[in-house]
Parts: sequence; structure tokens; C-alpha cells
Amino acid sequence: MTRRSIFAARTNWTLEENAYTHALQRHRQSGRELLDLTASNPTTCGFRYDETAILSSLQSAAALRYDPQPKGLPSARAAVAEYYRAIGANVDPERLTLTTGTSEAYSFLFRLLCEPGDEVLVAYPSYPLFDFLASIQDVKLRPFSLVYDHGWQIDFSELEKCIGAWTRAILVVHPNNPTGNFVSVAEAEKLNALCAQHSLALVVDEVFSDYRLPGCETPQPLHSTFARNSAALTFVLSGLSKMSALPQVKLGWIAASGPENLVRDAVARIEVIADTYLSLSAPMQHAVPALLAQRKTLQPQLISRIESNLRNLDTQIAKQKLGSRLELQGGWYAVLRVPAVQADEDLAVELLDRCSVAVHPGHFYGFSDEGFLVVSLLAPVIHFEEGARRLLAHINTK
Ligand SMILES: Cc1ncc(COP(=O)(O)O)c(C=O)c1O
Repeated sequence: MTRRSIFAARTNWTLEENAYTHALQRHRQSGRELLDLTASNPTTCGFRYDETAILSSLQSAAALRYDPQPKGLPSARAAVAEYYRAIGANVDPERLTLTTGTSEAYSFLFRLLCEPGDEVLVAYPSYPLFDFLASIQDVKLRPFSLVYDHGWQIDFSELEKCIGAWTRAILVVHPNNPTGNFVSVAEAEKLNALCAQHSLALVVDEVFSDYRLPGCETPQPLHSTFARNSAALTFVLSGLSKMSALPQVKLGWIAASGPENLVRDAVARIEVIADTYLSLSAPMQHAVPALLAQRKTLQPQLISRIESNLRNLDTQIAKQKLGSRLELQGGWYAVLRVPAVQADEDLAVELLDRCSVAVHPGHFYGFSDEGFLVVSLLAPVIHFEEGARRLLAHINTK
């Protein structure tokens, strides 16, 4: 009799490093310069943080008392509701649940919605962590395509074909990482109709939604936030990691909306899941109003960096032949189209070894074809400019 492994099959990951990670490690160890166009950790990209305000927000005397509140302290939820009011959406704080980051919010939702083996449909290319977030909850992610034709759109004919007996939810990122497209008003209507027709939940990840490029509303009007979506049971996920450029504080939330009876039931069930962990610390919850307010000084800095890097990239692209940039409406990333003469991963390794430039190969994000690289628009301007110059010069030798 073969003995069963001591470990659960869901943890049978391939843990060997891929060629790119290996090359990056080798490069870092060599001590050579690195123009890192994957840099997207805002705390290391040279932005000015109000250190006094951030640190003093974590020292509230009220945090000396333990007041377990499964959905999060009312004062913290009120601050999140105030954020939504400021962007034009009236959100009831009772429908908000605070989590330690958006990643935990995903695990709560997968537990709420899915039996083991159930499916969540997700628009691809997308955020690579989704595979792990789903599989550790025994949920299957089924990708449907975003298609590119002067901007990205949801392929609804493919999406409809993916809906089956095991489907529980549709997940979209608004704007998407890394393609930078928001869900348009017309797409939102179709998503709502599909969810209502097939009794599916709509999960909308809005972590990047405050990062919109000017002029991005053409040709299609874009949906602002789904936090007041009424036509389908909807869960909006967001948090401070992108909104206030504070990934280290680990604060996210779920905002539930949709048909009244379903929302009430959903929130009550999420509350039990949250009560089981009570994972947010008191100092963190008391700090939420002050940390949310940090967005007002951080977002303008990030937006200015994104716009400046994008302008620079476009100027350089205009002077050469073989590279182009795909259109984007927001977020922190840009997708480059490059000659598909080799695997993207090989090209990324080559760029590291020969040009000291780090970029992400498209397949990291689930691009099914070769010929795509992803760069972060948060990289410091001097690195970005020189990195893009070397990258474009290199691909033009192909
Ligand atoms: C689309 C998307 N959702 C969620 C997250 C993670 O957010 P958090 O830090 O709140 O877990 C990221 C991080 O990059 C992301 O790109």
C-alpha cells in the first residue's frame, strides 16, 4: 500500500525558482548596478511619507483596551465609509468588514462562497497571487480573456462559455493589474446581468481605483466604484496598501452591496468568519482614520511619478521601431509589446544579464502569447528613464 503524504495535496507547489528569479538573485549577489523596472513597493521608491503622523497614529492610548469587534472597530469602519462618501458613494459602515489586507479578504470570500472544487472566473492577464489565494482555499480559478483592441475589453462570449455548474463568482480587478483597464459602464451592466441570471457573486478588486490617468474615460465611460452596486451580490475589496501606499500596515476591507436580503445574509456570515480570527490588531484599527488620510499627500506623488514615467516611455518609444506600449487607463503598471522572437522569460533574463535592467515577463501575469513585458511606473524616474532606454535599445537589436 502506498502511504499518503504527510502534507495536503494543495501544498504540492513547485518550489524551484524559475530562470528569471534565479538570474535576478545572481545579479543582486554580483553587486552590479540594477535598474529595477519591477520596483512597485512604494515604501522603497523614494516617496515622502509623513513619518510623524504615521508613527503617532499607532500609539493611541485607546489601543491598550481589547475591544473585539469582528467587522472592525466602528471608528475605523466609519473612516472607510467617509472615504467612499468623498468619492461619491454612500456606503453603510455596517456593510464593511475590515481585514488584514486584501489577501485575507479574498480568503474570507472564498470560504463564504465556495465548496471545495467550486470555480471562480477571473479576467486574465491578472495578478499572479490569485492562483495561490484560490488554491489554498481549495477553489479553482478559471480564467477568461481580456482582449486587446485599442484598449482592453472583457471577452464576454468566452466568459459566458466558462459559466457552469461549479461557478460561484466572477472576479474582476478595477483597474486591472497589470493591464490597467477599468471596467466600463457597459461591461458592468453585462457583468451584473450574468451574475443575476446565474446566481453568482461579483467580486471587484478596487485596490488601484484611485490611480486613474487623465483622459482615460474615452471612448467608453468607466464605472467609478462597485461599492454601491445594486443589481448583483457584490463584494468590493480595497485597502491601504495601494490607496495610501502603505502595504506594510496590512489593512484591507470588504464592502458588500446588492440585493438587500442577500447582503444581510452575506455580511452576517462574513462576520462569523472574521470573528473566528479577530485578526486585526487594536493599534492598527485605531490608526485607520489617520492612515487613510495619508492618501491625500501620497496619491499626488504616485500619480505624478506614474505620469512622468509614462511620458518618458512614450517619448522614447516614438524614437524607435520595435517596441510599443499598450493603452492603459490607470494602475501602476505598463505593458510593453516587444518582438516575439524568443520566450519572454529568456528576454527578461537577457535584459538582466546584458543591460542590468529588471522587467517582468508577460507570462508571470498569465499572458498566453510571447512578446509582452510588464514594467512598474513607480520606479524612480532616473532608473526608469535609463532602464527604458537600455530595454528599447536591446529589443531593437532583435
Ligand atoms: C490586484 C491586487 N489585489 C490585491 C493586492 C494585495 O493587496 P494587499 O496588500 O492589501 O493584500 C495586490 C497587490 O499587489 C494586487 O495587485
